Amino acid sequence: MPDLITHTKQDESRQGEAYAPFVNDPVSYGKKFYIESYGCAMNFSDSEIVASILQENGFGATRNYAEADLILINTCSIREKAEQTVRKRLNDLRTIKEDKPGALIGVLGCMAERLKSKLLEEEKLVDLVVGPDAYRTLPGLIEEANDGQKAVNVLLSREETYADISPVRLNSNGINAFVSIMRGCNNMCSFCVVPFTRGRERSRDADSIVKECQDLFNQGFREVTLLGQNVDSYYWNTGVNGEIVVTFAQLLERVAQVSPLLRVRFSTSHPKDITDDVLHTMARYENICKYIHLPVQSGSTRILQLMNRTYTREWYLAKVDRIKAIMPDCSLSSDIIAGFCTETEEDHQDTLSIMEYSGYDYSYMFFYSERPGTLAARRYQDDIPEDVKKRRLDEIINMQRKLSHESNLKDLGKTFKVLIEGDSKKSDADWMGRTSQYKVVVFPKAGHALNKGDYAMVTIDDCTGGTLLGKIVQ
Ligand code: SAH
Ligand code: SF4
Ligand code: F3S
Repeated sequence: MPDLITHTKQDESRQGEAYAPFVNDPVSYGKKFYIESYGCAMNFSDSEIVASILQENGFGATRNYAEADLILINTCSIREKAEQTVRKRLNDLRTIKEDKPGALIGVLGCMAERLKSKLLEEEKLVDLVVGPDAYRTLPGLIEEANDGQKAVNVLLSREETYADISPVRLNSNGINAFVSIMRGCNNMCSFCVVPFTRGRERSRDADSIVKECQDLFNQGFREVTLLGQNVDSYYWNTGVNGEIVVTFAQLLERVAQVSPLLRVRFSTSHPKDITDDVLHTMARYENICKYIHLPVQSGSTRILQLMNRTYTREWYLAKVDRIKAIMPDCSLSSDIIAGFCTETEEDHQDTLSIMEYSGYDYSYMFFYSERPGTLAARRYQDDIPEDVKKRRLDEIINMQRKLSHESNLKDLGKTFKVLIEGDSKKSDADWMGRTSQYKVVVFPKAGHALNKGDYAMVTIDDCTGGTLLGKIVQ
């Protein structure tokens, strides 16, 4: 019985959680593949699609790359550091080829798309380069590579959503799953490589999304996260006479209706696109989690304009007010870039103050890393010295620490409905779960007959670092 595991290595950004193994596979496979994923949740989700395509084609998964016939690295290009991490990893894999000359090494994902066949010249040990829209062609490419050719497919598509492919859940805890609802991005944030690596935005068939969520629920999953680079611009049009259009708010509602016991999350929202309709839908359904990831990037209108984010500081603040007016208990998180081109101390202070106003519970914080080919790389000079970028980033991180701590203190004495995800890391006498607001809660099992996937009402009495501590209330 093959072990289906993906090794989850992330760049310094968020996304993707620690997983535990899951999947029982009755089929026996002639060959084995190993897959490692970097970058955002979309990439982790894509690896599950790749696993499904490979399984259909006689490959079983292994968590031991030394025994794999095919080693795949699903890569990220978002910052230079993310690419360096992958190059280092490829270097580590060099010895594999010496021990097992027949093994194939493939690079998937955003770095494959960005560098294309250049990657084969730069990294001699790579046999396959496959972009995010070309995974269906993997079996043919593997054959080509087995015949000694270097195999490349980096064609981007306007239609591909892999809607009909049932992802093989890799390293899942059996409770939380990612469900991809759209691909690509039509925004042109000037710093961002994603529109180049992922292509045009397209939405996946709503019925296939709802069915996937229903199937997950039937299998015991209790939380789905609907994924896209810009989920609020989700738009599905059946395209036939009497056509039915599904907006993101409507999709959210359909998924929430799968079961009140299924929690629904989504990521990522672009502040310019999140609508009142979405906010009211969230407020109406208890099982749509009260948590919005609403990346601000910068608090300065001038920098936001250079970033081509298409909103101003005031517009963002009004959106935060709107969210809090409709859902006072909604938590917020953000992505922030320190030291974008021309950023002054005053711009930086604007970022710190917008964080404070928004009261983020979490943020994912980076310093600006110029990406070749992007609008910013072509138009602006990356002119903030590295030590200044790092100092500003430190100040942003310290601000976030303060905000997270204050937010946790506000939770003391409150009671939350917690979805149990498993044993706490430190002790199997304690459960670990999350609130609707995405906060981690650890609490004693204390003789209550509960299981992973159950909900518990927990009163918070303490907190350490990023974790709330509490006790089950009757
Ligand atoms: N689609 C999402 C973000 C995807 S990338 C959104 O629009 O919010 C995740 C985060 O990486 C971005 O929000 C941004 O904060 C950061 N990022 C993207 N390009 C970057 C760059 N060139 N340098 C530093 N951080 C970057
Ligand atoms: Fe990049 Fe902007 Fe698209 Fe997000 S919305 S993926 S930051 S271009
Ligand atoms: Fe990275 Fe590509 Fe995601 S660049 S952040 S893996 S879309």
